[in-house]
Amino acid sequence: MPLLEKERVPLGAAPRRKGKAWLIVSLCLITALTVAVATLTVEFVMRSKAYQNQISDQSAALSTLEERISDLQTEQQSAASRMEEQDKTISDQQSTLEEQNKTISDLQSQIAAYQALLTPSADGVSQPAESLVVQVPPEAVGAKLVALTFDDGPGPYTAKLLDELKARNIHATFFVLGSKVDKYPDLIRRMAEEGHVVGNHSQNHKNLKNLSAQGVRDEMEACATRIEQITGQRPSIMRCPGGNCNNTVKDYAASVGIPIAYWDVDTRDWESRNVNSILNVAFNSRYKIQDGSIVLMHDIYETTLNASIQMMDRLLKEGYTFVTVPQLLTLRGGIAPGQVYNAAYPS
Ligand code: NI
Repeated sequence: MPLLEKERVPLGAAPRRKGKAWLIVSLCLITALTVAVATLTVEFVMRSKAYQNQISDQSAALSTLEERISDLQTEQQSAASRMEEQDKTISDQQSTLEEQNKTISDLQSQIAAYQALLTPSADGVSQPAESLVVQVPPEAVGAKLVALTFDDGPGPYTAKLLDELKARNIHATFFVLGSKVDKYPDLIRRMAEEGHVVGNHSQNHKNLKNLSAQGVRDEMEACATRIEQITGQRPSIMRCPGGNCNNTVKDYAASVGIPIAYWDVDTRDWESRNVNSILNVAFNSRYKIQDGSIVLMHDIYETTLNASIQMMDRLLKEGYTFVTVPQLLTLRGGIAPGQVYNAAYPS
């Protein structure tokens, strides 16, 4: 039984040697593991410390950056407010400059107006009397001009006409009759107060050509005195009733230092009593309104009132500046006593 023999070894001898070897291997492994773990731990601790240092460095850098940003923002804000202040100063200076320019231009207009006043008219007539010195609106210098005139009033439509003129800031010239002045003293006062010119159209609308020099004087002076009683001023301009004028009348006008106004646009409102017909003459006829025109109407007809409202609006739209007859003449060559004026076209 050789097989059985072989198995007969002393119990525990060979397994004890094997166990020792395992122990040594195990110890070696444990030691190696411990060393590895220790090395890793040290490495980990060192690295995390380095990271912490890095983080703290970075947060320090970040806070420095934040401070810099906040400094820059403060700087920016103060620069913005400085700029705002400078803008305000510039705008203040600009408005001062604008105001000064306006004053200069106003003064230039006044000078131009006075120069126009002092220029002798084309036919060499001498300078106007002091009573004819007329204030002209600065905006009228160099503008397209028209003078509306209303004769034979005041009448029942004159108050409404004055309202319409006032609403448009338009000044007109009224050639009133002395016989009507007694009936409408308030309207005469209102005309003067609202910047219109109250002209003399005689006491009773007689044909002055049929009168003697004394007759002309009586007719004209009766009306002038009534106007003066109400407005405190004698009229500075006259118009002959029916346009009937001769040398006797011109002599009278010269003797009292006033000019005689005619017209270049005769609306024939007294004849047609028709709004469209009046407007047609004013805008479509060969005698239509142009720069420097003097328009003849009569404020004693309702049709004239209605036509003149439309006329004013259309002329305003066309860029006209409304002036009184004395202003028109002042701006266009001057006024002289006893002279007759139909219009004042630009030269
Ligand atoms: Ni008349």
